[in-house]
Amino acid sequence: MSKISAAITAVGAYVPEYVLTNQILETMVDTNDEWITSRTGIKERRILKDDGKGTSYLAIKAAQDLINKKGIDPKEIELVIVATATPDMKAASTASYTASEIGATNAFSFDMDAACSSFLFGMSVAASYIESGRYKNVLLIGADKMSSIINYKDRATCIIFGDGAGAVLFEANDENLGLQDEYLRSDGTGREFLQATYGGSSHKLTAEILENGGQYAFQEGRTVFKNAVFNMADAAVKILERNNLTKDTVDWLAAHQANKRIIDATAQRIELDDSKVMMNIQKYGNTTSATLPLLINDYESQLKKGDNVIFAAFGGGFNWGAIYLKWAYNSK
Ligand SMILES: CC(C)(COP(=O)(O)OP(=O)(O)OC[C@H]1O[C@@H](n2cnc3c(N)ncnc32)[C@H](O)[C@@H]1OP(=O)(O)O)[C@@H](O)C(=O)NCCC(=O)NCCS
Repeated sequence: MSKISAAITAVGAYVPEYVLTNQILETMVDTNDEWITSRTGIKERRILKDDGKGTSYLAIKAAQDLINKKGIDPKEIELVIVATATPDMKAASTASYTASEIGATNAFSFDMDAACSSFLFGMSVAASYIESGRYKNVLLIGADKMSSIINYKDRATCIIFGDGAGAVLFEANDENLGLQDEYLRSDGTGREFLQATYGGSSHKLTAEILENGGQYAFQEGRTVFKNAVFNMADAAVKILERNNLTKDTVDWLAAHQANKRIIDATAQRIELDDSKVMMNIQKYGNTTSATLPLLINDYESQLKKGDNVIFAAFGGGFNWGAIYLKWAYNSK
């Protein structure tokens, strides 16, 4: 009997309409377009302006885009996972609300959080459910309303992040296409360098904390940068070596869009030509859990059945890794 593999068979995405450009940021904090572009590669990002709408709004839109494109009946979806670092609320998962709103009434659902590696780790989880033979399909959504935890007076973070969502459908495949191998790691000693500290169970929000902006995300950019460059590139190298892949047999690198210099460094380590490196950071900034599905949504028409795609990510925690996936379809 051939092994069941877990392949991506559809993609969908959503980004909010409002465009926050570098020029607008220049009027908000002490920064400039030249600095942001040369240090990060980001030109603009999307922001969900409506305070009444949370991450589920983005997740639902991305899932509906996928459902319409694929023409799947949402009642056939068996599991909905929302990968996110910014859930709608602390209790009552974003995934269960999302699943109901899209009509996935026969599914169970849960959220998962590994900061900027949430979607990458979510790919591993989704694939495992299918490879085990227990479920035929899993809808994995990466969604973040990063603007809900960003201080727009802090130039170290507000220039980087944006809001967005992307969704993929994993289905059982008998041609050995889909997820082939993974290398995933965590190191909790890194958590002090990138975190949204207050409002969880260990640090409560007080009036004084709120006054000082303690509810927002904080990062020590230089340390995060160094760790991201080293670990993302290292994970990519390991996954290539383990699978006897070379710069010629890898078709695409889909790397977490946190900083163009980090992506370039990863591509250089595996000697990959620029034409094989997916890039959309200039349009969306770092959308945390949404960067990988937004990439494959943007590049879907160029992906061909059998293409070797390397996914890589690094994020707060620290959490990082790489996944090797064989693309399973030609887009219509
Ligand atoms: C945040 C980041 C872009 C900063 O770039 P950097 O080259 O490391 O810049 P530094 O923090 O060393 O700062 C360099 C100088 O620019 C200044 N600066 C920082 N932010 C600035 C901004 N938005 N505009 C203008 N100047 C800025 C600093 O104050 C510093 O000035 P100084 O030399 O006079 O002290 C970069 O560190 C980064 O991308 N880190 C990783 C972020 C990331 O991936 N986060 C998510 C993890 S998934």
